[in-house]
Amino acid sequence: MSSQPSQHNLSSEKKDRFSSSGFIFAAIGSAVGLGNMWKFPYITGQYGGAAFFVLFIVCLIAIGLPVLLAELTIGRGGRGNASSSFVKVGGHKIWGGLGMLSVIAAFLIISFYSIVAGWTLNYAVSAFSGKLFDNPDFTAQFNEFMSGNKPIMWQFVVLLLTGLVVIKGVSAGIEKFNKVLIPGLLILLVVLMVRALTLPGAGAGVSFFLNPDWSKLGAESLLVALGHAFFSLSLGMGAMLTYGSYVEKRQSLGAATLAIGGGDLLYAFIAGLIIFPTTFSFGINPAEGPGLVFIALPAAFSAMPFGTLFGGLFFILLAIAALTSTVSLLEVPVAYTMERWRWTRAKSVWIILSLSFLLGIPSALSLGVASNITLGGKGFFDWMDFIASNLLLPLGGLIVTVFAGYFWKGVAEEAGLTAWWFRIWLFMLRFVAPILVLFVFLHTSGVIKF
Ligand code: PFF
Repeated sequence: MSSQPSQHNLSSEKKDRFSSSGFIFAAIGSAVGLGNMWKFPYITGQYGGAAFFVLFIVCLIAIGLPVLLAELTIGRGGRGNASSSFVKVGGHKIWGGLGMLSVIAAFLIISFYSIVAGWTLNYAVSAFSGKLFDNPDFTAQFNEFMSGNKPIMWQFVVLLLTGLVVIKGVSAGIEKFNKVLIPGLLILLVVLMVRALTLPGAGAGVSFFLNPDWSKLGAESLLVALGHAFFSLSLGMGAMLTYGSYVEKRQSLGAATLAIGGGDLLYAFIAGLIIFPTTFSFGINPAEGPGLVFIALPAAFSAMPFGTLFGGLFFILLAIAALTSTVSLLEVPVAYTMERWRWTRAKSVWIILSLSFLLGIPSALSLGVASNITLGGKGFFDWMDFIASNLLLPLGGLIVTVFAGYFWKGVAEEAGLTAWWFRIWLFMLRFVAPILVLFVFLHTSGVIKF
């Protein structure tokens, strides 16, 4: 098999492909998600504002982009799913087995990411209807929402919407959806940014976000920044690899990598310029943690003129960002089951979504009525997040870097970089990325502590 990769490629050529701009929008759609709008602002708040942002940019460029390019290259080279692509470009079967880890990771992530995505839909509806602002105790409101069955209902809606996109296929479904929503998202973000920057006292938020306090940086913030660069670029879960398998040969993967990285950063930057000025303007602590977006921001919107409109827009924006990411997550196991078991796209979509929904129920309950049921201090949701984001994600990244850096002979040809860029890339893949990713893994898995 390894001696005839090109013949194999021919026999498994896929017809349903992205156009070149469609691919960029879809990949930015995967990258831009709750990670940018929900997690990035609160970890930036916790780990030192601008200093953390600078660190995040360094991690994104030095580690994130090389690994992103490696995933895209393996996907396009193999034209298979997140597992078979490794074998098709000439890797031993064992690499296919390792690639399976990312298919599992993607499946697990859908089950709980869609829960948080559901919250954003619920908040969008209740902000637009004005109900959100009836009761000014936003902590109590959030807790009440979480302890009912609404999170499960909204998760169902998110999964259904995701399925309706993915079932239409790559160009008619995923591409079209992202081509409309990703530019739309940018417009909404800019509108909200202008609103936030013109609030009284917004300047304090901007300077918190943009004036670095280097004393807050340390080993822990470095690892958090690295882990987030990975999550934010959708790496280590086969999503970019699967999208890469739908890219035309003539498209430049190097240029695409820069566009995706730049897009991811831009959306996170604007999200920061919305959230920090808004929270500072209303005297809210930006380091409030996961509740920042669902508890602190509604408080700010409620005190702002036209808060119903801006609050509604903000949560719609979060929901769109989340949906373009769940679509990419679902495509990973769908591509796998379609190829491996020859399922039709429709069968793959509905079976996988039903299983994710079932797996999501204990996660959703563990944040509400069943929050007292824990194992080792973690509830079901936290365990899913821990296994997928902290264990499988860095492992998936490690597999990609080691395979592209050391084991795949044809990597240079498929990546199509100039000799100079190729040397830099290979250096990062061989020596820098694996070591840092290994550290992330040892840290997130709890082996090393600070
Ligand atoms: N990149 C997404 C975010 O920042 O929210 C999350 C994500 C999507 C991770 C798809 C992994 C993935 F495969």
